[in-house]
Amino acid sequence: MGAVTKVLLASICVAFLAAKWTSPRFDADSLKGARVLVTGASTGIGEQMAYHYARFGAQIVITARREKVLQQVVEKCLSLGAQKAFHIAADMANESDPDKVVDYALEKLGGLDYLVLNHIGPSPFSMWKGDVDHTKWLMKVNFFSYIQMAWKALPSLEQNKGSLVVVSSLLGKITSPFVAPYTSTKFALNGFFGSLRHELAMKKSNVSISVCTLGLIDTDSAMEKVRGVTDVQAYPATDAALNIIITGATRQPELFYPWFTYFIAITKDWFPSVTDYIIQNSYNYIP
Ligand SMILES: NC(=O)c1ccc[n+]([C@@H]2O[C@H](COP(=O)([O-])OP(=O)(O)OC[C@H]3O[C@@H](n4cnc5c(N)ncnc54)[C@H](OP(=O)(O)O)[C@@H]3O)[C@@H](O)[C@H]2O)c1
Ligand SMILES: *[C@@H]1O[C@H](CO)[C@@H](O)[C@H](O)[C@H]1NC(C)=O
Ligand SMILES: *[C@@H]1O[C@H](CO)[C@@H](O)[C@H](O)[C@H]1NC(C)=O
Repeated sequence: MGAVTKVLLASICVAFLAAKWTSPRFDADSLKGARVLVTGASTGIGEQMAYHYARFGAQIVITARREKVLQQVVEKCLSLGAQKAFHIAADMANESDPDKVVDYALEKLGGLDYLVLNHIGPSPFSMWKGDVDHTKWLMKVNFFSYIQMAWKALPSLEQNKGSLVVVSSLLGKITSPFVAPYTSTKFALNGFFGSLRHELAMKKSNVSISVCTLGLIDTDSAMEKVRGVTDVQAYPATDAALNIIITGATRQPELFYPWFTYFIAITKDWFPSVTDYIIQNSYNYIP
């Protein structure tokens, strides 16, 4: 290993540990009574976030498309200790639903302390075959609805020194085969909310933005896609959910979960052809 590489690796380790040590301590009590809106909360990581917020005694509004499932999640939230829990069914591909959901949460909770944007529309895990319409639809669900809801909630978040939490992916930082439409929506989110974070800081806004970079998480939808395709280890949704909540509560700009996604995101450009080789060979693909 060359001296330059060693110095670079050492610097990254120091930066990583410094970020860990200096990050503010999480105070669970700060979430008691907090007014939270979580999207995509009928299943997966969103559902787990709803349960964690409930255990912390928050007031919660959850949304997704399936009303019946949302009802069950709400009941479980109440039994776990949520001060309040409501649900509203909505389709984030519909142009009016994102506003409708934020209005509903503001009305039910009387304001918002956390807006947690997490939902994604289903997208195939396969080679790009030219389906532009699907990509446009996915951009509506995974991207345009996010910026619409963020804008709608921003005045209340300003008033309450609130936090905007965006669930993104390692696929918003690096590219991979089989996910062209999905990765596009995540790169768009990272670009948009990175820009907005600058603007809020320059305006001395009360609102923090946390963008969460996740690796492979063991939700049903993700496991179904990658089964037999890759041997990459999946991390538990409940742990991912808790880490996202802590990142928002401590107002940190970024989360990397699991931790090594930080190293991948930072080193991917050092040896581009090696990175490409590793990515392309991490899938069991036979042409
Ligand atoms: N799992 C992973 O490996 C992984 C890795 C990196 C990043 N992430 C990110 O983590 C977040 C959660 O992922 P997940 O694996 O938990 O997803 P998931 O289990 O597939 O859940 C997606 C949620 O979005 C809702 N949804 C789907 N289409 C919708 C629409 N048109 N309108 C409104 N809601 C809709 C679904 O509920 P309904 O069907 O009831 O609408 C569900 O509640 C996503 O932002 C994802 O990109 C996940
Ligand atoms: C969006 O939802 C509204 C009511 O919630 C409905 O009137 C409208 O037809 C929907 N639009 C689309 C494109 O489905
Ligand atoms: C920040 O919050 C305080 C109240 O907590 C409010 O008076 C002030 O106007 C807010 N700042 C902005 C930029 O809205």
